Amino acid sequence: MSTPARGEIVVLDDAPSLANEAAERFISIGNAAIAANRRFTVALSGGSTPIAMYRLLASAEMRARIDWSRVHVFWSDERFVPSSDPDSLLGVARQALLSQVPIPESNIHPWQTTGVTPELSADMFQQFLTSFFGGGIPRFDLILLGMGPDGHTASLFPGQPESMSPGERLAIAVHDAPKPPPTRLSFTYRLINNAASVVILAGGADKAGTLQAVLQGPDSVVQLPVQGVHPKNGHLLWLIDAAAAARLN
Ligand code: 6PG
Repeated sequence: MSTPARGEIVVLDDAPSLANEAAERFISIGNAAIAANRRFTVALSGGSTPIAMYRLLASAEMRARIDWSRVHVFWSDERFVPSSDPDSLLGVARQALLSQVPIPESNIHPWQTTGVTPELSADMFQQFLTSFFGGGIPRFDLILLGMGPDGHTASLFPGQPESMSPGERLAIAVHDAPKPPPTRLSFTYRLINNAASVVILAGGADKAGTLQAVLQGPDSVVQLPVQGVHPKNGHLLWLIDAAAAARLN
C-alpha cells in the first residue's frame, strides 16, 4: 500500500512484525550509511513501540549485523526528567539496547535534562548538533518517530502553535505537553525534514482513526502535527500494524 504524497506505507500483521521490520530497516539504513560515510547518525524516538525494536536489535543475532562503533545515537525528543527516571527515553534505550551492544559511550548523544533549564538544554543541543554535523542544517541518516493517538509526533503536540513555527530553531523546549511528563525537548520540523530517511512507527487500534485522518484526510498540521513531517530530500516511511491500518482505504 502506498500514498506517495504522505510517504511510503508498509502494513505489518502485528506488533512483533512491526518491531522486526523497524529493526531490519535500522540495520539496512545503518549499513548503507556506514558504507557511504563511515558512520550512521540515528535519532531514536519515544513511546512504547520502539522498545520491542530495541530488544530485537540487542539480540545476539541482530547486534552482530552492524558495526556499533560507527553508530551515533541521538533522540528526536526527550522527556525533561533525569535519566534514572522511568520516563526517560535515554534510560529506556540504555536498558533495552545501548547497554547490550558494543557502542562507545562517546557515540551516545543525549539531551541534558538536569542542571539546566529546558530552554538552555535546547540551545546547547542545537549548538552541539551544528558542530557535530559541521554547519548547515544537520542531515540525519535516519530519524525514528512515533505518533500519538492525538496526531502528535516527537514532542510536537496539537494546539501548541509555538512549537509548529519556531523560526530557524532545530531544537526546542516544550511546556504543558498533554502527554505526561509535561516538560519536554524536541527536534523541530526544520531538523526532522532535512533527514535522509524518516521512519514513523505506529501500532495499535487506538491510532486507526487518527492514521486515517493523517494519511487520507485534509492537511491540518496544527491539529495533526505528524502531518508536518515530509522530508525535503529524503524518504518518509510509515511502518504500521494491521490494527492501526484498519480504517485506511
Ligand atoms: C513520547 C514521544 C511520543 C511517542 C508517541 C507514540 O514521549 O513517548 O514523545 O512522540 O513517540 O506518543 O508513542 P507510542 O509508541 O507509545 O504510542
